[in-house]
Amino acid sequence: MKVPFSPPRIDEKIIRAVKEALHSGWITTGPRVRRFEQMLTAYGGQKATLCVNSASAGLELMLRWFGVGPGDEVIVPAYTYAATANVVVHCGARPVFVDSGDDFNVTAETVARAITGRTKVIMPVDIAGWPCDYDALNNVVNAEEYVRMFHPETPEQQMLGRILLLSDAAHSIGAVYKGKRTGSLTDISVYSFHAVKNLTTAEGGAVCLNLPPPFDNQSVYKTLSIKALHGQTKDAMTKFEGGNWRYDIVEPGYKYNMTDIQAAMGIAELERYEEDMLVKRKYIFQRYTEAFSACSWARVPPYENSERISSCHAYLLRVSGLSEQSRDVILRLIYINEVAVNVHFVPLPMFTYYKNAGYNIADYPLAYSSYACEISLPVFYDLTDQMIELVIDTVKHAVEKVRSGHA
Ligand SMILES: Cc1ncc(COP(=O)(O)O)c(C=O)c1O
Repeated sequence: MKVPFSPPRIDEKIIRAVKEALHSGWITTGPRVRRFEQMLTAYGGQKATLCVNSASAGLELMLRWFGVGPGDEVIVPAYTYAATANVVVHCGARPVFVDSGDDFNVTAETVARAITGRTKVIMPVDIAGWPCDYDALNNVVNAEEYVRMFHPETPEQQMLGRILLLSDAAHSIGAVYKGKRTGSLTDISVYSFHAVKNLTTAEGGAVCLNLPPPFDNQSVYKTLSIKALHGQTKDAMTKFEGGNWRYDIVEPGYKYNMTDIQAAMGIAELERYEEDMLVKRKYIFQRYTEAFSACSWARVPPYENSERISSCHAYLLRVSGLSEQSRDVILRLIYINEVAVNVHFVPLPMFTYYKNAGYNIADYPLAYSSYACEISLPVFYDLTDQMIELVIDTVKHAVEKVRSGHA
């Protein structure tokens, strides 16, 4: 039996939804995208939602909307996927990496220490679906000390009057912090609907707007929909309606819009996300945690406590005392048994581009130590009990073999 890592759930419901979109006569941004946005707003509890064609596009769109550019700094975790920092580089700003805490996420303390007069945005990431401590992070951006240090340079920055808290919620749709879902916990958060994510549209993302007064989130939504479509004042559907062809280009915008085919998948998934997908993912997490908690070497990831509930996106198992080389041997042993595992994440300062840009992994010891002993286990809707047992046995066997020096 082969166990893949995280194939998407493509069943009759999804195929029917996509077929209906294909036959509807409208396949780019249209009524399905608008409906998906409304459903996402109701689900996350944010004030407005803009669907885009990836989380990367959504994050970059928001940095550009806030006017982040050369000379600015954006605080990001060292322990994340490259998209989080790459979009900062695209804007000409400097990513300032911070080390991770014990739960893989950044802490408010390390973030606060990294703030300078050039900091414009803090981008925390809910690694593997586990929400960050958002009360603490919101307290940091609102603290008088950091408000005083903030130098607004654009109308948006002036209106906010402080550092923007833009969470990379690529992994965490449906995760809960103190009774609220991601989407409504920070000024802005961005989901990913990439093929391996909990809720997928093949590629896609959504920007959740939750800006405080005096921002009008509906009017920010309108500004963003124009910015995400070449600065065009009317989308394709509006232009097609009754000879309504004339439009203006008010800025050199981007091409970040989601299609109705993607939204059709998203709607079908979101309709059953909470009661079906999240329940299954939590079950898988429980099974892994029950099994590995009995092993002295295992550090199981958090997924639920009195304040937080994970979206159970990825199961990041750590093996105490393991070197990076031994972890890689374990990965090979697991692969030989046709169980697909992975590593989330290689800290960004270890990659060539960021190394050449002057970052040094020695400055992020916790990110490195989490990475070196980490193995991500398969989590996906169609994972069967038999497969779960096989993953557990294979991982235990491989780890014990290496720990006992028999590999
Ligand atoms: C933490 C994180 N941020 C952002 C992204 C980018 O998402 P997308 O592929 O939708 O652009 C990913 C994708 O894996 C991610 O893991």
